[in-house]
Amino acid sequence: MASQSTTTAPRSGFGVTGRTDNWWIGPLATALGLGAFGVYSTIRAVSGVDYVHGFGIEGDVVGNYLLSPFFSPLLIFPWMPTWFSPAFLILWAPGGFRLTCYYYRKAYYRSFFLDPPACAVGEPRDQYKGETRLFLFQNLHRFFLYIALIFIILLTIDVVHACIFVTVDGTRQFGLSVGSLVLGLCTTLLALYTFSCHSLRHLVGGKLDCFSCVAMGDARHKVWKGVSVLNKRHMLWAWLSLFMVGFADYYVFLVASGRIEDLRIF
Ligand code: FES
Repeated sequence: MASQSTTTAPRSGFGVTGRTDNWWIGPLATALGLGAFGVYSTIRAVSGVDYVHGFGIEGDVVGNYLLSPFFSPLLIFPWMPTWFSPAFLILWAPGGFRLTCYYYRKAYYRSFFLDPPACAVGEPRDQYKGETRLFLFQNLHRFFLYIALIFIILLTIDVVHACIFVTVDGTRQFGLSVGSLVLGLCTTLLALYTFSCHSLRHLVGGKLDCFSCVAMGDARHKVWKGVSVLNKRHMLWAWLSLFMVGFADYYVFLVASGRIEDLRIF
């Protein structure tokens, strides 16, 4: 986060500020980071190729099973035309979760809408109108959270699959490869991002005035404290998980397209 300014900006005038620090670096870096991820994920989602390794056309598994998080859970139906990417059935959920996230809202309001570009910097409109009209969809964040929690379970199952190796004679062995580690780290960071959610913190205990006055108050207090610890680093988990989910998809793409071999560690 940019350092504090020493002077208060005038109330109007786009970009007008008394700040002398490099306040524009934060919004610019955010725009570049989110923009690059948006372009990459859109290309991958639309292309709909090379997103799974070890899954044959008849459903037979060879080696270990690596599935890109962009395409998890694996949804392939006979009615789907060849041009239709299964990512379209999936990405609305994690995409909606991030789009309505309290941290990302601040980040993209500043970097893309410049409204305001930063603290104490003049914005395009004199009057703040709040999140009204179309932006009311931001209120859906709680519901996207419920879906995101289900996704964490599904992605964890993918990591387990990535650690099961099928040999030529059909036996199954537990093992680890670079791919299983990549998917494991990706799911861990996504879980940290999800479990540090402001809505989850509110849900598990933030909305209570008195823990000892409700059923399971002790347990809720412990969970709330745990979520609160993670919540302090929500921005960090947001960025690390965003980078890692893109990297995990790219790694699976490299393996599934035959460009590299997934190195088995044991
Ligand atoms: S506030 Fe960021 S994921 Fe919920």
